[in-house]
Amino acid sequence: MLKHVLEQGRAAADGALEQLLPPATQHPTSIHQAMRHSVFAGGKRLRPILCMEAGRMIAAASGAVSTAAESLPAGIEQVGAALEMLHTYSLIHDDLPALDNDDLRRGRPTCHKAFGEAIAILAGDALQTQAYEVLSQIACPAEARVAIIREVAHATGTIDGMIGGQVVDLEAEHKKPDLATLEYIHRSKTAALITASVVSGGLYVEASDADIGRLRTYGQSIGLAFQIVDDVLDLTQTSEQLGKTAGKDTAAEKTTYPALFGIDESNRKAGALVDQACAELDGYGEAASTLKELARFLVERKK
Ligand code: IPE
Ligand code: IPE
Ligand code: MG
Ligand code: MG
Ligand code: MG
Repeated sequence: MLKHVLEQGRAAADGALEQLLPPATQHPTSIHQAMRHSVFAGGKRLRPILCMEAGRMIAAASGAVSTAAESLPAGIEQVGAALEMLHTYSLIHDDLPALDNDDLRRGRPTCHKAFGEAIAILAGDALQTQAYEVLSQIACPAEARVAIIREVAHATGTIDGMIGGQVVDLEAEHKKPDLATLEYIHRSKTAALITASVVSGGLYVEASDADIGRLRTYGQSIGLAFQIVDDVLDLTQTSEQLGKTAGKDTAAEKTTYPALFGIDESNRKAGALVDQACAELDGYGEAASTLKELARFLVERKK
């Protein structure tokens, strides 16, 4: 069941990305090749999938859409594609020599290794602007469209958002980790965009404020669990398994969950967050089963 959701979600996201990104032959070709190099390198597409499944759950719970696997809210994959563009932009910039300085991403040379630093910086910028062009045209009522744009912009910004988290992540290198800083980094650099992905799916189908509140709480919990697991996998997996360089957090003395709590306690915390996230959705009954399975998958994944 979950395998089908992951495959269907990936296909829907990839189809939308293919259609919405400029072709590699479009002038100036170097930037379009660089954008596609990083986007079509085999990411898990978890943010689009979470967005689409949140939309499906709310629509199913309100009776607008059947729970059948075929029935995603029409056009929601374009929201997913925009989220994946923003996520990929964050990865391209995260890998730059001035940030984490990584050579491997999604099993391929990082964008700056393949295209040079200048084009990689611009490819990240371009994916960000492309994402907002896409969001301005999604097929939901104008009020929901504006709410999604605002949600996503805030989640990737400097105040409790992705950029703010990345700043504190870098500034905390080679320092003794403390819990307040660690939580700020993880909630901001990773959980914020994951939360916005889930919330955007709800906004797209005009969920009530109460529904949005529950989706937000679910997203915050799984988002934090997701980054805890990312930190654990950095220590426990190989670069081949991850498709990115393993062991780099230790090398850079990053502020991570395992650095502060060890691997077992980090895994326990991630599991507890997933339990909390799932409990938040109990009121949706059977319609919530996929989001609950996805939450478990996020902590059980091996890459
Ligand atoms: C990696 O995200 C970066 C983090 C925020 C931890 P993913 O693990 O979702 O990476 P892809 O998209 O599958 O490559
Ligand atoms: C990156 O966190 C989070 C963002 C890209 C915003 P990491 O630096 O831990 O991600 P990986 O491990 O390189 O994918
Ligand atoms: Mg980083
Ligand atoms: Mg990194
Ligand atoms: Mg990491």
